Amino acid sequence: MKKEVQSHRIATSDDIEVSTYLELAKELRGEQPVIEPKPPPARRETIVVIDFGSQYSMLIARRVRECHVYCELVPHDTPWEKIAPLSPKGFILSGGPYSVYEAGAPLPLPYIYESRLPVLSICYGLQAIVHQLGGEVVSGAKREYGHAILHINALDSPLFVDLPASLPVWMSHGDEVTKLPPEFKVLAYTENSPSAVIGNDRSVFGLQFHPEVSHTPQGKTMLKNFVYHVCGCKGDWTPQNFILDGVNKIREQVGDGRVVCALSGGVDSAVTATLIDRAIGNKLTCIFINNGLLRREEPERVLDTFKRNLKMDVVYVDAADRFLKRLQGVIDPEAKRRLIGNEFIRVFEREAAKLGKINFLAQGTLYPDVIESTSAETKAAVKIKSHHNVGGLPTKMKFSLIEPLRYLFKDEVREVGLTLGLSEEVIWRQPFPGPGLAIRTIGEVTRERLEILRAADWIVMNEIKKAKLYRELWQSFAVLTDIKSVGVMGDFRTYGYLIALRAMTSNDAMTADWARLPHELLARISDRIVNEVPNVNRVVYDITSKPPATIEWE
Ligand code: XMP
Repeated sequence: MKKEVQSHRIATSDDIEVSTYLELAKELRGEQPVIEPKPPPARRETIVVIDFGSQYSMLIARRVRECHVYCELVPHDTPWEKIAPLSPKGFILSGGPYSVYEAGAPLPLPYIYESRLPVLSICYGLQAIVHQLGGEVVSGAKREYGHAILHINALDSPLFVDLPASLPVWMSHGDEVTKLPPEFKVLAYTENSPSAVIGNDRSVFGLQFHPEVSHTPQGKTMLKNFVYHVCGCKGDWTPQNFILDGVNKIREQVGDGRVVCALSGGVDSAVTATLIDRAIGNKLTCIFINNGLLRREEPERVLDTFKRNLKMDVVYVDAADRFLKRLQGVIDPEAKRRLIGNEFIRVFEREAAKLGKINFLAQGTLYPDVIESTSAETKAAVKIKSHHNVGGLPTKMKFSLIEPLRYLFKDEVREVGLTLGLSEEVIWRQPFPGPGLAIRTIGEVTRERLEILRAADWIVMNEIKKAKLYRELWQSFAVLTDIKSVGVMGDFRTYGYLIALRAMTSNDAMTADWARLPHELLARISDRIVNEVPNVNRVVYDITSKPPATIEWE
């Protein structure tokens, strides 16, 4: 299971920062966030994944969505009353870290069987149904971890459409099925697992291996077979349908109300705002705050996209002076963060108050955030620990939340954004932290130092893009250190700043590796920075992964 990582930072970067500031502002005033009922897209075919705590549970949901079938991941003890509105076409039971004989091991609730819907159970899920339906599982008899070859002996089963008689699969289990429940048959086996795939005539299946991981290359075909050939789905989960549903729901939810949305320049708030604009047009007002800590040309790009091209109602607030004044003399990274968060809320509230009566605050919350925190109340409570010093807020904001992306994964958000007509540049922008260049300017943040960093960062970004590596990298940027070193340029001795380059590969920013950039590219970036950026005479490349380092330097 995922461990809670205690950090002063916010795990998800990008737009979460903005929404966090606002949530915290409400928390600190003792306001409970108002949560609107958010009906899931019930008209769409839905598969429900019952989560028994496997680290791969979310991956199962993603794989099913990749087959264009809507899928929700719910905790294993979710009652039928919550599942019924989804009208599921089938269940997938995830793996989990338990043994069925352990005291308190979670087991499928009776509705899984009583519904008569198809069931695909994976690893622990398989052992749980075998145990419940009258078979036998032996604990720790034969551990199996890693690759195995699956041999199919029921090639006519709908689970195996388009699959060869033997294929590689990924195993990870300690317990083993030793006796099948009545009416179940073995459909496939591996050398160490005689019952690697089992099934009965009522479309209840069990897989001992993990079809959702990339180490089972044909696993996705198996999941697709389950949702299409066993559950009878047709695949109606497309960006176009999501937009149609989303637009209708936003109209329903907002009615005659008005919505405000904080644009950050990141993809989540961009797609949120564009979708809401599509639904309700001028009842939406976006606020874009320039805190003076953005990258070069970023404010212009955001305004071009939303105001000039999409003709949306954007209030642009140039608050750079305010932020930079507050940052004078501040060198502690946490103090910088707190101060920027605090200032953001003040500016946002002041601007929102000018708009008159606003009923809704739009946020770019995504599905992984929803899964990780079952309710928005707990989410705010968890976040408050990391930002406990934000406070002292003047006015009251009484907004309900509107979160049109709360059922989407990041890659789906990108697809929806592209379908809505947003440019590739917006959609594929690398994450950028809320406190911006302040936490990449080590030491004091001044206009002069920010200009140096912006110039170096611009070169890094352009060269990375030219080398066609921008999308592959999680983040790539420059850091202005507070070290000065001696150099020689022409016949002169120089004493200038040291710039550090950071380029990371990662899936979720929780762990990350430094990118093995080609030497020629590093050389070009270094040459350009020392030649083109005044006061910089040395460039280093940071070759530390996360952990033990973090991605940002502060
Ligand atoms: P670290 O440096 O902790 O960063 O490895 C992980 C990811 O989070 C981003 N980050 C932030 N994002 N506010 C944000 O919105 C912050 O204070 C913050 N600090 C780090 C960082 O860019 C990386 O993607």
